[in-house]
Amino acid sequence: MKILHTVAELHAWRVQHDQVSFVPTMGNLHEGHLALIKLAQQHAPTVIVSIFVNPLQFGAGEDYTRYPRTLEADAAKLSAIGIDAIFAPSVEELYPQPQRYFITPPALANTLCGAYRPGHFEGVATVVMKLFQLVQPTIAVFGKKDYQQLTIIRGMVEDFAVPITIIAGETIRATDGLALSSRNGFLSPTERALAPALYQQLTRIQQALQDGERDYAQLQLNASNALIKQGWQVDYIAICDTQLNPANLETSSWMILGAARLETTRLIDNVMATS
Ligand code: PAJ
Repeated sequence: MKILHTVAELHAWRVQHDQVSFVPTMGNLHEGHLALIKLAQQHAPTVIVSIFVNPLQFGAGEDYTRYPRTLEADAAKLSAIGIDAIFAPSVEELYPQPQRYFITPPALANTLCGAYRPGHFEGVATVVMKLFQLVQPTIAVFGKKDYQQLTIIRGMVEDFAVPITIIAGETIRATDGLALSSRNGFLSPTERALAPALYQQLTRIQQALQDGERDYAQLQLNASNALIKQGWQVDYIAICDTQLNPANLETSSWMILGAARLETTRLIDNVMATS
């Protein structure tokens, strides 16, 4: 397994390989990331994983500085599952000068998480486009855990006719239902015990929709209130269609998404429901 730190090293590696599949990450790898990587391995013989904490996608006052950087442990995990290369550039390497051109995603990027993290999806789309240009994969794998991100990347690839097939991996969870996330490490033991409640509220809505309940506003409010009572600060609980428009009475497949904070740690999750 090669660890590539520079664009020059990446290019030299890339020309030696035919088709590659790509899993972009910010590192601090857990079983959720590893599941995406195993999925990538099923689709192409050569797999490259990027590890880069992208400053463009963090707002002022967000957790860019405290975001865990654990390259050595990550490399050990990746080596154990047999990938071909890691691309782990420094900020100066990926942005040798301040980025001047940005991908501006559509209005979808200003709803849900985008409403609480202005500029976040612009930063995500921009770095993913840049990584795509550098890595030139035929396949790239993203997790459904970040469903809005996945939708925005799919839209970007479609609009720019990027010749990359996007594959989506299922959300991997702890046994108590909490979606695995690098940010779970910020939770105190008490917060960790409360954390599965977000998923529980989303699955309650899922069940209610499957039982025929259609008062979306009430379902969202009940879930929010239940979380607030336990000490969460809720950004949103939203019942949408699969394109992430607000659900209406014609909707028959729903995405139920939530973002909420336990003190300084912001968690997101989503589940799908079909009638
Ligand atoms: P990061 O949060 O490291 O996530 C990398 C990939 O892992 C994303 O596609 C994300 O959806 C997926 N993922 C995270 N937790 C998961 C889980 N529990 N189950 C399955 N997949 C999971 O998302 C980013 O990094 C960045 O925004 C990035 C796309 C790398 C651009 O900087």
